[in-house]
Amino acid sequence: MSFTIAIDGPAAAGKGTISKAVAAHFEFAHLDTGLLYRAVGAKTLDGTDPIEAARKLVAEDLDADNLRTPDVAQAASRVAVIADVRAALVDFQRAFARRVGGAVLDGRDIGTVICPNAEAKLFVTASAEVRAKRRFLELDGKGLDVSQEQVLADVKERDARDMGRAEAPLKPAEDAVIVDTSDLTIEAAVASAIKAITQLRENA
Ligand code: DC
Repeated sequence: MSFTIAIDGPAAAGKGTISKAVAAHFEFAHLDTGLLYRAVGAKTLDGTDPIEAARKLVAEDLDADNLRTPDVAQAASRVAVIADVRAALVDFQRAFARRVGGAVLDGRDIGTVICPNAEAKLFVTASAEVRAKRRFLELDGKGLDVSQEQVLADVKERDARDMGRAEAPLKPAEDAVIVDTSDLTIEAAVASAIKAITQLRENA
């Protein structure tokens, strides 16, 4: 039997950390769908057409270590507004969601568009300031030359684009459980996500 967990939310809200921990806890496979858009975005930085890049994407493209940079994040958010890019990535995500044994997918539109029938949906969020601070510490820790102000401006720009677009905009599904991580430690955020999903599984 398959059980799908959809985890959506804005950049740097803790989705990635929570999704990995949730997948490990339930022994489910995990797909970070942002990587699909990042891989397409990275290709456009070399001049490739975004729709072409999305149609030709292969699993190996998701392994590249250069996908976690601010430039690639912005490029990902820009290609993500294109309907044909999103359409080219749907089948891969839905096939992953149907994996026997269960799957966790995290992104922006998993509970609303990709897997509207997911058995569990979470919307992980936090204030823009808290998210920018976390992202700054992460990038600074990797030795990237970034300022806190620039990271906050980037987060706000990406939020506005991700929430304002016509195609699959970022928003909580009506039946999503909201997890606000602004005042939570990582451990507390993970525990609250696992608790919410466990309750949904028991009622499924
Ligand atoms: O989660 P992330 O920061 O890696 O995502 C990068 C960008 O990709 C994000 O700004 C918007 C886009 N994205 C999307 O539109 N839909 C998804 N399911 C995942 C990411």
